[in-house]
Amino acid sequence: TTIRVQAPATSANCGPGFDCLGLALNLYNVFEFTPDGKATSFTYSFTGYGADILEKEDPKKNLIGIAMEQVFAKVQEPIQYGHIKSDTLIPPSRGLGSSSTAIVGGLLLANELVKTPLSKEDLLIIANRMEGHPDNVAPAIYGNLCCATGLKDRVLNTVIPVPESLHFAVVVPEVLVSTEYARSVLPNHVPFKEAVQNVSHASLFVTSLITNQLTNLEVALEDNLHVPYRKTLIPHCDKVFSAAKAAGAYGATISGSGSTLIAYTDKAHVQTVAEAMGQIFDFHGIEYKIYILEAD
Ligand code: HSE
Repeated sequence: TTIRVQAPATSANCGPGFDCLGLALNLYNVFEFTPDGKATSFTYSFTGYGADILEKEDPKKNLIGIAMEQVFAKVQEPIQYGHIKSDTLIPPSRGLGSSSTAIVGGLLLANELVKTPLSKEDLLIIANRMEGHPDNVAPAIYGNLCCATGLKDRVLNTVIPVPESLHFAVVVPEVLVSTEYARSVLPNHVPFKEAVQNVSHASLFVTSLITNQLTNLEVALEDNLHVPYRKTLIPHCDKVFSAAKAAGAYGATISGSGSTLIAYTDKAHVQTVAEAMGQIFDFHGIEYKIYILEAD
C-alpha cells in the first residue's frame, strides 16, 4: 500500500525573526512511498519543479530517505525500503523551504508506516537537527506562524494562528540563492542598537499578528540582521519592496534566505501588490513567477 503525505512551503525569518519565526503557506510538495520488501535502498522518481535536477542527484543524499531512516532508528524498527515519489510545486532554492518539505515529508511517511508513534514534537526535534535551524521545519510540521527555539535535544515551539485577512504576494525571481551562501554573507557582529531594534521589531511582529494590528507590519517587518546583507544577492530588491508598499502592502521582506520576496498585504491588494513587484523584475528583464498565497 502506498502512503501519501504533503508538506507546505514556509517563509522563514518573517523579517526580524532570524532563525526563529516561520510561516506556513498554502503551496505544497507531495510525497508518496510504496514499500518493497525486497529493496535494499530507496529509489526515487520526481515530477514538478526541478525534477530534472533532482533526478541527477545521488539518491543516498536525498533528504526524504535520510529523514525516513531517522524515524526507523528513533523507534528502533528495521528500515523499510521502497520507492519514493516526489511531486514538487514549490520552487527549490528560493527561500520557500523546499528542503524542509523533503525532511518533513520523509518524517511523516516513515511515521505513518510505523503507525505514528512519534508526536509532532518528536518529529520537530529530528527535523531541527537535520536542518540546523527550526524556522522552516516547525511551520512545515505545525502550520500557521511558529516561533521556535532549538535547544540541545529539544525544541521549544509556539504556534499562533495567522489573521485570515492577511494575504501574501510572493514573487520568485529566476535567481538561485543557496542557504549556505546566503548565510556566509552574514556578519559576525552587529551594532548593539541594531540588535536592540531587532528584538523590538520581532516582538512587535508577533504581538501585532496576535492582536490583528496589521498596519504595524510596516515597521515590524524591518530587519537589521540579514536583510541588509542579503539584499545585494537579489537584484533590485529595495525597488521591489518599495513597489509593494506603494501598491498598498503593509510591508515586504526576503523570504527565508531568498531569492523569493514576500509582501504582507490584505485580500483587496494582494493581486496588485504582486503585479507591482513583478513589474520591477519585468523592467530589468529578470524572469519571475508570482504566487498569491494565504497561511496554511
Ligand atoms: N533562517 C534561515 C536563514 C532560513 O535565513 O538562513 C533559511 O531558509
